[in-house]
Amino acid sequence: MNSTKKHGKRALVTGGAGLIGSHITDLLVREGWTVRVFDNLEPNTHKRGKPSWLNPDAEFVQGDIRNRDEITAALRDTDVVFHEAAYGGYMPGIAKYVDVNSLGTALMLEVIREENLPIKKIVVASSQAVYSEGAAECPQHGLVFPEVRPVEQLRRGDWTVHCPVCGGETRSVPTPENAPVGGETVYGLTKMDQEKLVLLWGKQAGIPTVALRYSCTYGPRQSIFNPYTGVIAIYCTRLLNDLPPVLYEDGEQTRDFSFVEDIARANLLAAETDKLDGLPVNVGSGKGVTIREVAEQISEALGIRIAPQAKGEFRPGEMRHLASGTARIQAAGYKSQVDLATGIGRYLEWIRAQSDVRDYFSEAETILRAKGIVHSVSK
Ligand SMILES: NC(=O)c1ccc[n+]([C@@H]2O[C@H](COP(=O)([O-])OP(=O)(O)OC[C@H]3O[C@@H](n4cnc5c(N)ncnc54)[C@H](O)[C@@H]3O)[C@@H](O)[C@H]2O)c1
Ligand SMILES: [Zn+2]
Repeated sequence: MNSTKKHGKRALVTGGAGLIGSHITDLLVREGWTVRVFDNLEPNTHKRGKPSWLNPDAEFVQGDIRNRDEITAALRDTDVVFHEAAYGGYMPGIAKYVDVNSLGTALMLEVIREENLPIKKIVVASSQAVYSEGAAECPQHGLVFPEVRPVEQLRRGDWTVHCPVCGGETRSVPTPENAPVGGETVYGLTKMDQEKLVLLWGKQAGIPTVALRYSCTYGPRQSIFNPYTGVIAIYCTRLLNDLPPVLYEDGEQTRDFSFVEDIARANLLAAETDKLDGLPVNVGSGKGVTIREVAEQISEALGIRIAPQAKGEFRPGEMRHLASGTARIQAAGYKSQVDLATGIGRYLEWIRAQSDVRDYFSEAETILRAKGIVHSVSK
């Protein structure tokens, strides 16, 4: 740790070897923080072990968030915790999500209290996956919060989000933080646990906390080995292997994408301002883009023209549309800086420099179907 412009602030970045954590680390180091990265190098994400991008000016500690001694040691001499470590995406397990995300977070908080550690703030990575169907607008009833679409409806190939009052068709609008939460997937449920544990514990312990609900995040270093998460990474590896990107539903569902450096900036802001303390806070661009459009943009940028394939499959619990309502974080001074086209370009530049960009998705597809995570419409 020999950065030049130290200002005395010390950070612990859990999951700091991953996509978001490593970019937070780089930004903090540039800003003069002393940074410790704590990461177990989860094999699903880090197939080749320690990644080359670990910042040489940060301390790296390999350890597991579920190990009391390891997390206790890592928390020493820390002012701010950026808690990014998590098990994520649409992976087939159930217990591991609860173990790593829910219990891991609980253990970390317990250690801070038991050891009376002088932590000044915790910023926890939450997700837009905590929302159900997000916010929508009904021509008759205005702003509504529809419930998750029933599996029976999806089986019929009806992807519409209906108004909870009149059953009419709705239009998606940006989802504000006060929309109903709960999590409709195992992952979403455990992100909810993490967020609630940190926020309510922070109030009890008198430690400022912020839960950042990230939108779909992408960028250099996104695991090219993990077929279960990161649609941009998956579509890139599919196309580079001359395979079509697979669209769930009809590909017209929308997501809000954030370039990873924007997410890192949001973390720094959350650490430095007190305007967001005690709150769940959306971080995103505020704009929804269809998944089909994303597939087409990547194919265009790569110059590999293979049309995406919609096979009539869907993932129960997945929301149809989600754009983040970003009024809260904007009021604290945040603005996303990297648009999707620029961000995809940056990602492709990075992926082209990687060797062995294999398609892991084909194999995963079979597993996802067998475990009931991906379903087909009834013929
Ligand atoms: N990428 C997204 O689109 C997105 C969206 C919303 C929220 N998030 C959240 O942001 C955080 C970071 O996600 P990411 O995209 O950088 O994922 P990532 O998989 O690239 O990084 C997570 C890191 O956590 C580490 N980790 C996993 N289990 C651990 C354990 N038991 N102990 C210690 N370290 C462990 C992994 O090795 C990995 O380096 C996660 O909490 C995730 O749920 C991500
Ligand atoms: Zn209505």
